Amino acid sequence: MDNQWLDTIESASSLDELETIRVNILGKKGSLTLEFAKMKDIANEDKKEFAKNLNEKKGAVTKSLEAKKTILMAIALEAQLKEDKIDVTAFSAKIQSGAFHPVQDTMDRVITYFQNLNFSVEEGPLVEDDFHNFEALNLPAYHPARDMQDTFYTKDNKVLRTHTSPVQIRTMMSQKPPIRMIAPGTVFRKDFDITHTPMFSQVEGLVVDELGTVSFANLKHVMIEFLQHMFGEVEVRFRPSFFPFTEPSSEVDISCVFCEGKGCRVCSHTGWLEVLGCGIVDENVFTAVGYKNVSGYAFGLGIERFAMLIHKIGDLRSLFESDIKLLGQFR
Ligand code: DAH
Repeated sequence: MDNQWLDTIESASSLDELETIRVNILGKKGSLTLEFAKMKDIANEDKKEFAKNLNEKKGAVTKSLEAKKTILMAIALEAQLKEDKIDVTAFSAKIQSGAFHPVQDTMDRVITYFQNLNFSVEEGPLVEDDFHNFEALNLPAYHPARDMQDTFYTKDNKVLRTHTSPVQIRTMMSQKPPIRMIAPGTVFRKDFDITHTPMFSQVEGLVVDELGTVSFANLKHVMIEFLQHMFGEVEVRFRPSFFPFTEPSSEVDISCVFCEGKGCRVCSHTGWLEVLGCGIVDENVFTAVGYKNVSGYAFGLGIERFAMLIHKIGDLRSLFESDIKLLGQFR
């Protein structure tokens, strides 16, 4: 059967073209539709044959259109997929990750270090009473050492704690020896310059055990190991000093991390940087908390100072300015 339409359909190269062809054949004025109109001119006896022939052709055309449409759709989809492909190697916008503040990071490192040595972590109130902040720490009212700390007083005669040492007192009064604790936290003093801020962070440490079992040698060993953990291979020296709550007392220096001990502006050309205070717990402190026949050592340090020396930050105040440019460097 001759069917000229099938070749036309076969020649379609796109879905749009195929649709045009369909309309040209089967539309109201389509060539095949017009063939049906010729029916009226056909002799009656031939009408049946004529109609059958045309219907067969129409059937073939419809089938062919469907088949061609399926093929062209598949080709179109293929082309679309090629166009839309995702380049998994393409560069994407950088995601900015956050970072711990250097003070928090340093605090966490100190806490973790002592936790690994089995020290418990104790806390106390920021607003303290005179007894815990001063009196029980062998700092009676008339004591000249109270001048060492510029204190914020509240209206009801309490203080913003000037150090984390009062947590020693609270811990000893609520627990029995042996004690092995640190007290991390915020403290307050009336001070504001390049190396002082009115609020800063300290970690206090305390070890108490049976009389004669805790010595200055133990304290020295723990401090040296701790400081070398925090600052790397520095030298450590112990200088005799005074604290009311310890006797004997010592201030501890490390060789300057800026000049490696050669002498520079930061260490005032001494080659040494003071990093903490420590000593053997004064008997008067044990008496104040009702402890008998014990010995102990204590130490206290400032976290901001540690953070500054670890990260070589010049101005302490920059740690409190929430400057994204500075903080971004610790990512
Ligand atoms: N409380 C002292 C301060 O704030 C630090 C300190 C020094 C704590 C010596 C101690 C110590 O326990 O033994 O400056």
